[in-house]
Amino acid sequence: MLIAQISDLHCREADAPAMLGCDNNRNIAIAIERLNALSPRPDVAIATGDLTSAGRPEQYAVLATYLAALEMPLYLLPGNHDERGPLLEAFAGRYGLVDDGGDFVRTVIDDGPMRLVSLDTSVAGHHHGAIAEERAAWLDESLATASEKPTLIFTHHPPFETGIWWMDRIGILDGLDRLAGVLGRHRQVIGMVAGHLHRTMHATFAGVPVTIAPTTCYAVDLDIHDEAPPRVTNEPPGFMLHRWTGDTLVSHTVFLDDHETYDVVSILKDWPARFERMRDRQPVPKALGAIE
Ligand SMILES: [Fe+2]
Ligand SMILES: [Fe+2]
Repeated sequence: MLIAQISDLHCREADAPAMLGCDNNRNIAIAIERLNALSPRPDVAIATGDLTSAGRPEQYAVLATYLAALEMPLYLLPGNHDERGPLLEAFAGRYGLVDDGGDFVRTVIDDGPMRLVSLDTSVAGHHHGAIAEERAAWLDESLATASEKPTLIFTHHPPFETGIWWMDRIGILDGLDRLAGVLGRHRQVIGMVAGHLHRTMHATFAGVPVTIAPTTCYAVDLDIHDEAPPRVTNEPPGFMLHRWTGDTLVSHTVFLDDHETYDVVSILKDWPARFERMRDRQPVPKALGAIE
């Protein structure tokens, strides 16, 4: 099963000028194009928050035009830069979003070999994240309904301190104990994927592997000094492709930037012989290696 994860699109109004060295909307278009071109095609795509830069209706309208071009099922989760009202006005009834009168997104994607469950950490009017009682209870119940099925939780704010202080101060400030309790009760959770940090990271939380996807816009600078001035960089934007094999989840990063590929076979001494051995899962002698 292949799961594409795009994060922190920060979509802006159609006429918005580039900001912080990045044309966010152009990158969204490129990301959609790259996703559609993937082979094999992902079974599902998830967008882990900060869909827009300020949660304005005009921004969701622009985002809608980009998302309409995506050729695979997509599920949306809000981040701190989103606003639940305008988000639902734009998309309720689509992309897993339902106007249920509550204050958080509840998505369970259960049509593949791995189950995907959302954890909406957004807090109205604030940038930090939280896991209130009701959300932890919903997650607990959702996980309890399929305790044998491998499950991936997707969220916006990651459940760990990253060392980048100005992002950590708007991390999950409440409810990590609740989340740890839930994860302790449901051992089928094989991982969590998040966004918010605008750079790739890996950690564990309560014994569960957590991966943060890169952003499609500007990256957060890697500076782990306390109280360092907040900075972003033009490190390569991208998205992730998570491959579930039945017992392992492998997370690949796909960069948006144009790049060349080079044919390795052209420098191998005897590719047909090497191919045969590899196809049959036999060890490859160095004698069949590259011309160096
Ligand atoms: Fe973001
Ligand atoms: Fe965020």
